[in-house]
Amino acid sequence: MSHLLEIEDLHVAYGHIQALKGISLHVAEGEVVAILGANGAGKTTLMRTLSGLLSPKAGKVTFAGQETTRLGADRIVRLGIGQSPEGRRVFGTLSVVENLRLGGFTRPPAEIAKSCEYVYEVFPRLYERRTQLAGTLSGGEQQMLAIGRALVTKPRLLLLDEPSLGLAPLIVKNIFQVLRAVRDTGVTILIVEQNARMALKLADRGYVLEVGRLRQEGSSQELLSSPEIQAAYLGHG
Ligand SMILES: Nc1ncnc2c1ncn2[C@@H]1O[C@H](COP(=O)(O)OP(=O)(O)OP(=O)(O)O)[C@@H](O)[C@H]1O
Ligand SMILES: [Mg+2]
Repeated sequence: MSHLLEIEDLHVAYGHIQALKGISLHVAEGEVVAILGANGAGKTTLMRTLSGLLSPKAGKVTFAGQETTRLGADRIVRLGIGQSPEGRRVFGTLSVVENLRLGGFTRPPAEIAKSCEYVYEVFPRLYERRTQLAGTLSGGEQQMLAIGRALVTKPRLLLLDEPSLGLAPLIVKNIFQVLRAVRDTGVTILIVEQNARMALKLADRGYVLEVGRLRQEGSSQELLSSPEIQAAYLGHG
């Protein structure tokens, strides 16, 4: 059986800086897969390449049986890959509801409305703040909005780049609860996280990226109990 997402020998560079040096990985339909790695490992580069914002130098990406290696970002959204980017990148001068509607730009209005309802259900805070300008939301609320905007694309694969970055533990817990609920609706998730413990608790499997190469892979259990992973990414507790 082919996987929902297949990445083969992916090379991505910024000028002469090789950020990804031959990455191969796969994600099966319904799986949650975590990508761990230190700062500068190439995690964001991978996410941006998958969503069509960067074009690889070599290698191949296949999503749902279709090659997407060099497709533009809007084609990729239409195929069913939604992204919540690193740093949230909400439209600060637009309201919450306007941000969500923009997320649905590829879809008919009635469906956008339905997806917005779903987002408000999982993030009631966004409903309370629906007319507020996104730039005035707290960091946690902006993260909810970034995830919500990706959900409004009705993704089959949801890409999440550092959803817990800079957020208080309680908000992080809340966001991960929502991600579990999203996963339970059948959405496949590829998540990049500095918070390796939270990510591996959510994920089925994980990969460890080290300066542009995959260093280790395994089930979340294997990675959580690996001494190298514990030393490098899990700290104490
Ligand atoms: N626009 C760019 N121009 C030049 N080099 C870049 C650019 N973006 C990223 N890089 C380089 O590519 C490498 C990988 O960066 P990337 O942002 O993918 O890492 P990351 O794993 O997401 O790191 P972090 O955990 O800090 O978010 C780094 O060496 C970085 O300096
Ligand atoms: Mg990054």
